[in-house]
Amino acid sequence: MKKRLFSGIQPTGEVHIGNYLGAIKNWIRLLDQYDCIFSIVDYHAITVELDPREMPQNIMHVATVNIAAGLDPERSTLFLQSHVPEHTELAWIFNTVTPIGHLERMTQFKEKAQLYKHNINAGLFDYPVLQAADILLYKAEVVPVGEDQVQHIELSREISRKFNTRYGEVFPEPQELLSDAPRIMGLDAKNKMSKSLNNYIGLLESPEAIWKKLSVAVTDPARKKRSDPGTPEICNIYHLHRYFSSPKEIDWSAQGCRTAGIGCLECKKCLSDNIIKELTPIREKAKELFDNPDSVQDVLRRGAERCKEIAQETMKEVKSKMGLHLGLYTEPSKI
Ligand code: TYM
Repeated sequence: MKKRLFSGIQPTGEVHIGNYLGAIKNWIRLLDQYDCIFSIVDYHAITVELDPREMPQNIMHVATVNIAAGLDPERSTLFLQSHVPEHTELAWIFNTVTPIGHLERMTQFKEKAQLYKHNINAGLFDYPVLQAADILLYKAEVVPVGEDQVQHIELSREISRKFNTRYGEVFPEPQELLSDAPRIMGLDAKNKMSKSLNNYIGLLESPEAIWKKLSVAVTDPARKKRSDPGTPEICNIYHLHRYFSSPKEIDWSAQGCRTAGIGCLECKKCLSDNIIKELTPIREKAKELFDNPDSVQDVLRRGAERCKEIAQETMKEVKSKMGLHLGLYTEPSKI
């Protein structure tokens, strides 16, 4: 029996190379090693204001990009969170074992509360509890994520322990699994790459758009002119080379920067070419899938069917431990 793995991504706009390097590439690498379940977490996404008219295409975008990048639906399960209502049901139960103080400490909540001052809603605060429910509903033990999610996974372990202590052993303690790129910085070189800060390269962007964005991306500020030597370790472009370029090119970029042998634009052009080379097959595959949306919807439908079965089993066990079932749960129509 393979261990179960769960991870999620929000349908909040374009999937970017931070998501790709920090999470999706790792998901693909682990497909055969674990029983993999991936969710497009729309109930998480609505904690910030989104245009409902854009939701269907956002969801289809994320599903399509993931499949195009290599998330093989024959070797994993991909589904939409709101198709399995047990996520919110379990989140409510978890609310009752989660101290408010723990949620107040969450860095992501504090950051989002700053960013969306006009809409600090209860869902935004409660977000990590729903995330714990996502993972534990499937009793997943492994959660591949970027660094920004580690605190949420720690809280999931805490919630699991609290539930098990109060009601009896039901849940495992999930562990995060980081990729070799746990925190990709944005093109502003100041903040983590993210959709909300608009400092990203989208996975489906055209070669022209990729070059346009990279050509103005921030580099080592000490290199004001071509002849100034720089420090590759503090340059975000150098760090990106490490994920897209060959060892020889990485070396070329570091040496050239240190000795002012190459200019930043030259260094960026090489990176741009390599990013384009890696993303072109993904963009082409995505185009095929966009022309055939039924196949993507079918993947999500099948995914939800499988997840519902597992989720209902877990909820039976949870309710039974909590004394909430009255022996009727197998026949909901009688309740
Ligand atoms: P989301 O949608 O913000 O991001 C999806 C995944 O991409 C990673 N990531 C990054 N990794 C490295 N560098 C970056 N700049 C970068 N930006 C994003 C994220 O860490 C994440 O792994 N709360 C989650 C979604 C979620 C979830 C879950 C994840 C909901 N339920 C259960 C795991 C398990 C989120 O907002 O991801």
